[in-house]
Amino acid sequence: MAEAKKAYVCRECGYDAPKWLGKCPSCGAWNTFDELVVAKKGSSVAAAVTSSAVPKAKPQRVQDIKTGETKRIDIGQSEVNRVLGGGLVPGSIILVGGEPGIGKSTLALQLALADNGLRTLYVSGEESAEQIKMRAERLGIHNEECVVYTETLLENIIAQCEAIKPDMVVVDSIQTIYTDLVDASAGSVSQIRECASTLLKYAKGSGTPIFIIGHITKEGTIAGPKVLEHIVDVVLQFEGDGNNTYRILRGIKNRFGATFEIGVFEMLEKGLRSVENPSEVLLSHYDEPLSGIAVAATVDGIRPYLLEVQALVSQAAYGTPQRNATGYDSRRMNMLLAILEKRVGLKMFQKDVFLNFAGGFKVSDPGLDLAVVAAVLSSYFDRPINEGLALAGEIGLSGEVRPAPRTEQRISEAARLGFKKIVVSGYASLPTKKIKGIEIARINTVSELARHLFAGQEVE
Ligand code: TYD
Ligand code: MG
Repeated sequence: MAEAKKAYVCRECGYDAPKWLGKCPSCGAWNTFDELVVAKKGSSVAAAVTSSAVPKAKPQRVQDIKTGETKRIDIGQSEVNRVLGGGLVPGSIILVGGEPGIGKSTLALQLALADNGLRTLYVSGEESAEQIKMRAERLGIHNEECVVYTETLLENIIAQCEAIKPDMVVVDSIQTIYTDLVDASAGSVSQIRECASTLLKYAKGSGTPIFIIGHITKEGTIAGPKVLEHIVDVVLQFEGDGNNTYRILRGIKNRFGATFEIGVFEMLEKGLRSVENPSEVLLSHYDEPLSGIAVAATVDGIRPYLLEVQALVSQAAYGTPQRNATGYDSRRMNMLLAILEKRVGLKMFQKDVFLNFAGGFKVSDPGLDLAVVAAVLSSYFDRPINEGLALAGEIGLSGEVRPAPRTEQRISEAARLGFKKIVVSGYASLPTKKIKGIEIARINTVSELARHLFAGQEVE
């Protein structure tokens, strides 16, 4: 075996150093250096396997570069195609990260078995072949072209890739794969780095797209070095609340498309279902209008959808009122309540306030402010908000209503779903063309809001 040279690498940013350091000079983090066992130059499987396959590039002028449409492969799952930027790019390497149990393996197997005409090599280092078979039966889909391979040694995986020549490879998970050339345990920085770069070289050399599944640590970062994120072309994060069925696949990095795109899924008995129209599932339909419910026209990344905000305002039983927000930043909620107190004159200091979003969604869109305040007002006065009303706007400390980013898209989404009226900031630049079927109400301060929420309602 090749003689190994030692180096140290920062787990946070991937900074290399010849000696162990207490503090990283690059990112400033403490105690993040791990020993990296560097495989001897030229001995890497990657070099041996693919150096001949990589086409030689020549320097050329930008105007001489032939563009030709990048061919996108339809992966057979609309929401995954969407986050990838319209399909899979040949030779790309995609990292899917997520917490344990969120559904990464389910998604991976669904992609492998999808009816997409791709011959997929599904490599699992975590589950036995029987377990995979059981899951496939549960999903109820089968693709004759898909082969399952339970292996953790990288050299064997590459050898199978070269023998089978699959159209797509799925590796579940990168933390279980190891190479003999690096004398460290699987899941260590050294192993992850070496294995990922070898897979990258295979992907680029052969034009085969590879999905890599990666675990996420409690802090929410992909376990192993940040280096992994630098190596791959696309980083997708699979998020969701274990108690809820909705899952979001979020683009964190994408060399071939919009980064902030999201895909929405629902985890059902028979696997993940693409939710092409999140607004429709997130809006509940009530027989009778209820107080404390407002509809926000929100944007997550670049995708607009409508979301139901629920608030409960009740008389505080103790000296210090309780404030509780689920899926929303509670400091932001407290700020909005203070604005209501100061600018609208509501006695919020005597009230307990609870806030919640339908579907267990977590959102951090500043444009939600208006809907949060509207839900609180509705519960405070115990009056339902007029039907067919949506809201989108940010609220400033002096109670001014500022335009929400992408207001135009929010209005279109509300109109598409049949909303009759939307309240936005008076400072928002409005669409040049009138959007059909929806009235746009513009307000400049939060004190004007109530007028629109309860317009035309009888006062008892
Ligand atoms: P899994 O894909 O194993 O998660 P990960 O690979 O991210 O650790 O999915 C785990 C959960 O998903 C498990 O608790 C059961 C649930 N599940 C369903 O609800 N429906 C299904 O069809 C499948 C396959 C799993
Ligand atoms: Mg798994």
